[in-house]
Amino acid sequence: MASSSSSSSSSSSSSFLMVSLLAVVLIGVASASNMYNDFDITWGDGRGKVLNNGELLTLSLDKTSGSGFKSKNEYLFGKIDMQLKLVAGNSAGTVTAYYLSSQGATWDEIDFEFLGNLSGDPYTVHTNVFSQGKGNREQQFHLWFDPTADFHTYSILWNLHGIIFSVDNIPIREFKNSESIGVLFPKNQPMRIYSSLWNADDWATRGGLIKTDWTNAPFTASYENFNADACVISSGTSSCGSTSNNEKYWLSQELDSTSQEKVTWVQKNYMIYNYCTDTKRFPQGLPKECTI
Ligand SMILES: *[C@@H]1O[C@H](CO)[C@@H](O)[C@H](O)[C@H]1NC(C)=O
Repeated sequence: MASSSSSSSSSSSSSFLMVSLLAVVLIGVASASNMYNDFDITWGDGRGKVLNNGELLTLSLDKTSGSGFKSKNEYLFGKIDMQLKLVAGNSAGTVTAYYLSSQGATWDEIDFEFLGNLSGDPYTVHTNVFSQGKGNREQQFHLWFDPTADFHTYSILWNLHGIIFSVDNIPIREFKNSESIGVLFPKNQPMRIYSSLWNADDWATRGGLIKTDWTNAPFTASYENFNADACVISSGTSSCGSTSNNEKYWLSQELDSTSQEKVTWVQKNYMIYNYCTDTKRFPQGLPKECTI
């Protein structure tokens, strides 16, 4: 502060510079995702790690244990993006679950689950939606890329119109709010983000056909660039309640016709299971939301 004794104009311009610099630093900190700020490792006895000053989070699984984390915040609607790089090589039997969930016996849940496979065979992306404890709305997909070679963005857009699952900004599934025909929709219970890497070789590999090969352990899944444009609930108050919601495009976003075409493309080429067409499973008739 050598300038403080010289003219007042140079003093005010240097303090202006200081304030500007401070603003740049604060904005930089606020926009870069930091895993330390957003998540807590919840289990796994050291198998879950935050690395690179918070830029990266990894979960691992070995014969003794898997691991998991959860978000510090609870959300009620928003667009939530995470980049994941899944377990590479022979990952058969491993499941990386990444989901939103509320608590209690009548919980709501929005799921991505990534089912590993033998080297070279495709991962299965499993999706589901629970309303008040009731799920049974599975759709499963293969991917159009190798999800273990690089990070890819997996997104959940959740608002009163519906839930859209996307991969690299390509929507793969839309679960519409069908309350008008009596289908429960998750809209009242704040949810946290959870993720875990665990052994599910009793069911994940087509009913336990292939067992996890522990000679490949530890298995590792990685996470980075988390972003939540979302309503955060704290002490019962929503961060969306106080300010104007006009810029919050994600509160009203639905699929436009271009996005609808993308969903159709994914479902035609990469969908491997759809509860809405499983007439054997629902002999009394398909769930109501499937009929519209
Ligand atoms: C594994 O690969 C096989 C063969 O391509 C495929 O049928 C199956 O859906 C894949 N996923 C799982 C979890 O088995």
